[in-house]
Amino acid sequence: MDISIIGSGYVGLCTAVGFASLGHKVICVDVEKEKVDKINHGVPTIYEDGLEARLKAAVEAKQITATTDTDYAVKNSEISFIAVGTPSKDDGSIDLTYVKKVSRELGKALRNKDGYHVIAVKSTVVPGTTDDIVIPELERHSGKKAGEFGVCMVPEFLREGKALHDFLNPDRIVIGELDKKSGDIAEKIHEKLKTPILRKNIKTAEMIKYASNTFLAAKISLINEIGNICKKLGIDVYDVAEAVGYDRRIGKLFLEAGIGFGGSCFRKDISALLKKADQLGCEPKLIKAMLDTNKGQPLKIIELLEKKTNVKGKKIAVLGLSFKAGTDDVRDSPAAVIIKELTDKGAFISAYDPNAVENMRKRFPGITYADIGECLDNADACLILTDWDEFRQLEDRDFDKMRNRIILEGRRVLGRNKVRGFEGVAW
Ligand code: UDX
Ligand code: UDX
Repeated sequence: MDISIIGSGYVGLCTAVGFASLGHKVICVDVEKEKVDKINHGVPTIYEDGLEARLKAAVEAKQITATTDTDYAVKNSEISFIAVGTPSKDDGSIDLTYVKKVSRELGKALRNKDGYHVIAVKSTVVPGTTDDIVIPELERHSGKKAGEFGVCMVPEFLREGKALHDFLNPDRIVIGELDKKSGDIAEKIHEKLKTPILRKNIKTAEMIKYASNTFLAAKISLINEIGNICKKLGIDVYDVAEAVGYDRRIGKLFLEAGIGFGGSCFRKDISALLKKADQLGCEPKLIKAMLDTNKGQPLKIIELLEKKTNVKGKKIAVLGLSFKAGTDDVRDSPAAVIIKELTDKGAFISAYDPNAVENMRKRFPGITYADIGECLDNADACLILTDWDEFRQLEDRDFDKMRNRIILEGRRVLGRNKVRGFEGVAW
């Protein structure tokens, strides 16, 4: 089938390459001409495992093309996904500016198209958004009634760093549908994926995405709180988590304690849900507490560091800048909170990351970026903040050039007994 995707960011581009891998033809749309040109040359705009080769192959096979022209994209496809960002406003509520703008553009494009077309919301939006904002915009600008065109909400569950794998091996696909005709088309484009397809109404699909992210983030905050207690007691929380995870009701995944969750989704989405709950007169105390716990978690590594040394005027090596391994994304990265706090306290940061240096440089142009050896050379302390495999390879002797052997981990990377002078934030 012919698919168009409006917004070629992390989600839009990975989804495009995923659909191309299933044999569909995809038109990527983005307002940024530079991104469009790159995609047309088969060059990804983001780092994601396996993306480059697949994108190149799909562009060469003419399965993926990119344009800035929404009208063209709608005319030449049967279904259009909205995959633009939904950032947080200052008060934590969801900023729907881009979703609204794109809905307006899609409405105008629908006016110029005769055949049936489905609009599918992929961006994470608070329950009610598609019904209350997207559909009215589409109707107003197309001059047509929803039903004459199709509407779906198909949330994404892609982890950055594993996005293509997750696209091709999903645990489930959720389709929120306006009507059967819309849902059938959304289901058809996924038919090659052997996975349960759950068809619900639109609002329910929107909520499923928030509920999933909330559960995942809750697991992390809970194990972090347990880890903080373990730390005081001299217990390794990873031993606790291993045993707890054998209980199938709990499960083994997402029990890695450390400096807390980051990334473009968890904090943003949970804040948006809390704001929505607030408007509805609900008071989800537990969900609010999860965010509070997470906010404090990156600072734990600084507390630990300051027990060992005064940081003012010291050289601190920071290894790992992205919010997790496998991505160049620094949105909500705990490393940014830690760097800001340490520079405010007068420390000198020497930072390294395999992929995220350029993105972090935009945030912190004034710190030093160097390779691992230079970062560690004469350093007063080393903080390992991302679980890149490269850091797991580090040996005791790699730290010999440090002035002081203070090595603290925000993620479980080195493990116990591998390196002298090593300690974890929550274990
Ligand atoms: C996505 C989802 O859309 C978001 O709701 C979800 O919670 C996380 O994942 P993401 O792909 O990470 O967001 O966002 P980003 O990388 O910022 O990409 C958005 C793209 O849309 C950008 O390339 C931007 O240029 C483009 N865009 C934005 C448009 O093409 N038109 C616009 O009007 C606005
Ligand atoms: C998340 C969801 O997993 C995905 O389904 C959704 O569509 C988008 O948001 P992502 O943000 O890419 O994906 O990363 P994820 O792997 O979920 O990790 C989020 C954060 O939690 C990272 O900072 C990670 O380091 C942290 N984390 C994860 C922990 O601190 N401990 C864990 O046990 C697992």
